[in-house]
Amino acid sequence: MEQTLSIIKPDAVKKSVVGKIIDRFETNGLRVAAIKKMQLSKKDAEQFYSVHKERSFFSDLIQFMISGPVIVMVLEGENAVLKNRELMGSTNPKEAKKGTIRADFADSVEANAVHGSDCLENAKIEIEFFFAKNAVY
Ligand code: CMP
Repeated sequence: MEQTLSIIKPDAVKKSVVGKIIDRFETNGLRVAAIKKMQLSKKDAEQFYSVHKERSFFSDLIQFMISGPVIVMVLEGENAVLKNRELMGSTNPKEAKKGTIRADFADSVEANAVHGSDCLENAKIEIEFFFAKNAVY
């Protein structure tokens, strides 16, 4: 069993598609092991996305991620990291496969509905960033 971190981003929360997105995870064998709705501070977002700090899109990414509340979750299941990434689809929704979350709910590479950890090592770091050990069941 693996765990991975998922964020439903401000665009998808504003569109009220939170339930539809969580349904994709649950019907595909990913269990919600922890969940909270929160407003990221600028500091939270900058720290969470610090690997991208040299990228040209960093400041727009931070502004977008603090533009409204997000849903942060730990998803658990077999091959959870890869399965979550398959369900999300490509970062750019225009390149995302039909039937993926980003193809169905995202508008642009920035407002792309969801974030998911890219590997098991980062999943552990990202989960610890948001959740205490005793908050994941
Ligand atoms: P995410 O999986 O959350 O990780 C980093 C985010 O940066 C990515 O999704 C995109 O939403 C965002 N981003 C914005 N512009 C770009 C870009 N040009 N290339 C890649 N990611 C981008």
